[in-house]
Amino acid sequence: MTEPLILTEIHGDGARRTALIRINRPKQLNALNDALMVEMGQALIAFDRDDGIGCIVITGNDKAFAAGADIAAMAEYDYMHVHQTEYITRNWETILQVRKPVIAAVAGFALGGGCELAMMCDFIIAADNARFGQPEIKLGVIPGAGGTQRLPRAVGKAKTMDLVLTGRMMDVQEAERSGLVSRIVPLDKLLEEALAAGAAICGFSGPSLALAKSCVNKAFEGSLHEGIDHERRIFHSLFATEDQKEGMAAFLAKRAPAFRQR
Ligand code: HXC
Repeated sequence: MTEPLILTEIHGDGARRTALIRINRPKQLNALNDALMVEMGQALIAFDRDDGIGCIVITGNDKAFAAGADIAAMAEYDYMHVHQTEYITRNWETILQVRKPVIAAVAGFALGGGCELAMMCDFIIAADNARFGQPEIKLGVIPGAGGTQRLPRAVGKAKTMDLVLTGRMMDVQEAERSGLVSRIVPLDKLLEEALAAGAAICGFSGPSLALAKSCVNKAFEGSLHEGIDHERRIFHSLFATEDQKEGMAAFLAKRAPAFRQR
């Protein structure tokens, strides 16, 4: 029997729980192939539609989050193939449609497409053994799943050029210092910490979370003026929700809010 390419689990015990997706090609250091990206996309969309899920965590194993796109598969591709089949575009970016928060819990290697996948998540919690890089230059290509665009927005031009042009890896301290990683945790606490973040998120208002996420993403995608304008309109619109009334009333009454997801 062939091993499943991803494994999924549900964690937590509230009305909204955290879905965990584990990338599962350990022998290939979780290299990301076509079938895996299709399955991950399907799982992400299913969890996004499930009212019982409030947050999604994507992880790998202790040695690798993902060591990149599958080089063995790519080695056979020619220009017409990648162009006509819309390689990457056709199934790697499903994650960008997900409105719920998605956390990357990264241990070990997050290289090439693995680093790019982590950057498509909303934030990265990394284990103390995590290593990040865009080594595509060593293969005669360049990052192809957003690395040349998202990495400079996360860590700036100098660090990006250094990584993309030399192909070197950075350790987790450098990744955290430069803004790629939100927090570093001991390897044996990685999932616990990511699931605790998921549980905290699950306790909040789903509509507010989705809109907060879209506003932060706006900061990456357009000008400051457009982003602020978008944020203001979304902020105003949240005053039409029951969760805003409840959240503020609960604060004033010194009690926990009971968000109703609307
Ligand atoms: C296919 C891979 C792989 C990959 C590792 N393996 N990375 N297979 N695609 N990206 C396989 C190896 O071939 C090997 O298989 C097994 O996993 C273990 O890897 P080793 O190299 O033996 O492990 P180690 O010596 O510990 O070195 C780890 C490593 C190295 C430094 C991460 O594997 C490495 O450099 N991998 C390639 C990293 C890379 O270039 N990533 C970017 C890919 S391009 P066997 O059968 O020999 O045991 C990319 C394009 C992005 O991602 C653009 C679109 C998304």
